[in-house]
Amino acid sequence: MWVADMDFEAAPAILRALKKRVDHGVFGYQHVPDCYFEAVRSWFERRHHWTGITPENTIPTIGVVPAVAAVLRAMARPGDKVLMHTPAYNCFFRCLDNAGCRLVESPLICRNAHYEIDWKDMEQKLPGCKALLLCNPHNPTGRIWTRDELSRLAEMCRREHVFVIADEIHCEFAFPGQEYTPFATIAQDDYFCVCTSPSKAFNIAGLQCGNIYCANEQAQAAIRQAVDANEVGNINCLAVYSLMAAYNESEQWITELMQLVYGNWCFIREFIRENNLPLSLTEMEGTYLAWVALPEGTLSAGFCEALAKEQHVLFNPSDMYGTEGFIRINMATSREMLAEAMQRMKNYLANH
Ligand SMILES: Cc1ncc(COP(=O)(O)O)c(C=O)c1O
Repeated sequence: MWVADMDFEAAPAILRALKKRVDHGVFGYQHVPDCYFEAVRSWFERRHHWTGITPENTIPTIGVVPAVAAVLRAMARPGDKVLMHTPAYNCFFRCLDNAGCRLVESPLICRNAHYEIDWKDMEQKLPGCKALLLCNPHNPTGRIWTRDELSRLAEMCRREHVFVIADEIHCEFAFPGQEYTPFATIAQDDYFCVCTSPSKAFNIAGLQCGNIYCANEQAQAAIRQAVDANEVGNINCLAVYSLMAAYNESEQWITELMQLVYGNWCFIREFIRENNLPLSLTEMEGTYLAWVALPEGTLSAGFCEALAKEQHVLFNPSDMYGTEGFIRINMATSREMLAEAMQRMKNYLANH
């Protein structure tokens, strides 16, 4: 119930495309064809009303973490400050560290089990930062930043000349009635980039594929150079064909899967309520990662370790994401598996 991939087979169209590509039998170096960029453009335009993606402003990479790492190297120097909301996706800490950047944390505020940006804190900390590493939708709190929130962020960054790196890998996972707003559709200038990938939504993370959108010419040149220098631009042939099958042929599949994920979130909520468990489920707007507060004073790592040892179920402890007292539950699994995991957590809580 931990690392963020799903228990489901990839969409049938992806499996078909992969089988066809494998049957071809020749696996030489892959040229990224125009139809790849067309698939990305068409998907974001159709599904998210984001226009303006072109082959010229899109840089393919072997994944979003490699993309973020390369962008950091392109847009910041060792010693530069980079702001990030915390809790944060664990690999972000490593990316910043490896780039030699100084982390400036702006902790999100949790009010009534719902996370918000601390605007005052950001106002104070943003000046002097080189970049903002934004996660939209946000792993692990499940927030999908609203148009207003993103506009306010964009305005602050524009004023302080802070480059925005928006990681939008979770963009397909909006709960019913919620909507993901691409940062690119509200930004007031072009001093930003957006990293996307079909990998989370279509469960093809192991095929390693991501794209960096950047329209600012100077920033784009620097990013291309960093992608090159870090050797993270040569995507493999299976990734190319799976992205096209995902974006061109699998929209219905992801729409249905999202309903299943939302159903699982509702199930966790009901399970906690019905069993009167001393847990608090965060009010989320999306992603397939439930963020659950543990009983007051519980250390997340100890809790997860004991649960794994005694009940053989593994959740992610929140200290990985830079905060204490929570666990992250991967909900992208069958209802049976989720029910079993929750039952085991209930057993554990009853015995301690
Ligand atoms: C916010 C975020 N970015 C990036 C990744 C991983 O991206 P990739 O596997 O393409 O490197 C994840 C995986 O959980 C994630 O949550």
